[in-house]
Amino acid sequence: MSTVVQASPTRSVAIPPMPKADPCLVVIFGASGDLTKRKLIPALFDLACIGCISGQQFDILGTGRTEMNTDEFRAAMREAASTSKDARKFSDWNWAEFEKRLHYIPGDINDHGFYETLKGQMADLESKGASSNHLFYVSTPASLAPPIVQGLGKSGLSKNEKGWARIVLEKPFGRDLQTAQALNKEVLQVFNEQDVYRIDHYLGKETVQNILVFRFGNSLFEPIWNRNYIDYIEITAAETLGVEQRGAFYEETGALRDMIANHLLQLVTLTAMEPPVAFDADSVREQKVQVLRAIHHMSVDQIAERTVRGQYGPGTIGGKPVPGYREEPNVKPDSHTETYVAVEFRIDNWRWAGVPFYVRSGKRLAKSETEIKIHFKRTPQAIFSKTSDDDIEPNVITLRVQPNEGIAMSFAAKQPGAQMKAVPVKMDFCYQDAFGGEAPVAYETLLLDAMRGDPTLFTRGDETENQWRIITPIEDAWQQLPPPKFPNYDAGSDGPEESDRLIAGECRHWSPIGK
Ligand code: BG6
Repeated sequence: MSTVVQASPTRSVAIPPMPKADPCLVVIFGASGDLTKRKLIPALFDLACIGCISGQQFDILGTGRTEMNTDEFRAAMREAASTSKDARKFSDWNWAEFEKRLHYIPGDINDHGFYETLKGQMADLESKGASSNHLFYVSTPASLAPPIVQGLGKSGLSKNEKGWARIVLEKPFGRDLQTAQALNKEVLQVFNEQDVYRIDHYLGKETVQNILVFRFGNSLFEPIWNRNYIDYIEITAAETLGVEQRGAFYEETGALRDMIANHLLQLVTLTAMEPPVAFDADSVREQKVQVLRAIHHMSVDQIAERTVRGQYGPGTIGGKPVPGYREEPNVKPDSHTETYVAVEFRIDNWRWAGVPFYVRSGKRLAKSETEIKIHFKRTPQAIFSKTSDDDIEPNVITLRVQPNEGIAMSFAAKQPGAQMKAVPVKMDFCYQDAFGGEAPVAYETLLLDAMRGDPTLFTRGDETENQWRIITPIEDAWQQLPPPKFPNYDAGSDGPEESDRLIAGECRHWSPIGK
């Protein structure tokens, strides 16, 4: 039995206004692609509507393979923004103001001549009042990042004497350790590290940033945030979505590279890192890298024991039948790509020795939810005679990243009555109740930071390489191990049954998804 006690905010605090971006010209590579429509334009549009971007000196120059002119680009972006839930300030008037700032030129990024055309176009915009600060946003498949970086280097666009030049690189940053190292080398020949913004949109989420505030803005939790008090940590990123129209991409990528290599490892590092000396880019990223370096490198046998792969078969989600992964468009009918992964990570350092971090992520699961559960150890003795050991549940702190963003804490309380009986209760803090209003979406926060020159919430070069140092051996070992029998979980379930063996131990279990 569990009783819920609401934790009320001590005062209601309005969300403060966002800071202003530097004037700049944003050049988007891959502007005819999905991410530009779904995330980048809605985020930039909203930033413009709330006054974070100066109307006078802000322009977007999109480029892509698709042949279209500026008017067609504006129409396509309007269509996308008008139906996007992220373009929260959409109105005809707001859009009419914003679209004056949108421009497009088609081009082939593998053609050296294209960068001269681009340079000419940027100079032309500047002569008409565009800013001489340049933010290059690479929103293309990972394999196209190297030619873009080379093109920017050779054309001289990466060096800017009249203002700044920064580059934002979308995930995945390479596809293994070797390609990530090669890409880092390539980028750093052309840009300085402080001008390179490797984006992981999880770091732009308010609740992900709040992990650091919860841990280091309170004196209550940090003293118990270690192996002496914590039994295990469970991190889940579950999605009801399937691979939708991204079958071809997903076939190449899989859940390990798509989610664990970046978003989930970010959650692990923020949960496990030591306190930084200050909240600035170098201090925070240094501590995150230390965690990645301490994650135990597993042998092939350990990988067989401590990882579970899954792939969804047909099932039901929200009362509707959905196809299995192998029936999705652009997916091979005998595909062995994983759509679910569970991994047990161990962190070899003083704070975390012996504390397993169970991490799982999957598509087409029962509910969409991302959360971190900190499971504390049991009390050393059960002293309440009317309560058997099993009645007193160990304390759990749940950091709800999404949806229903907030933090819950479970503990034992005396059940009213003549007997000393302990029952579990829960204190629940809900972001929406405490702060109301609309928090910025992740891409708004990150784009604004990139335009202001703050890389704290972006991934440093050595951080991405250390992420692959953990992930690549798992990919390699999976190639050597017998392939699992796919599909091994039904769409709409909690994932493959086999993942239970990973966590099964005294009083340890995965939390049911969405309950
Ligand atoms: C992306 C992955 O990086 O993150 C997608 O490529 C995934 O497969 C998405 O669906 C999840 O992001 P969010 O913000 O919806 O949790």
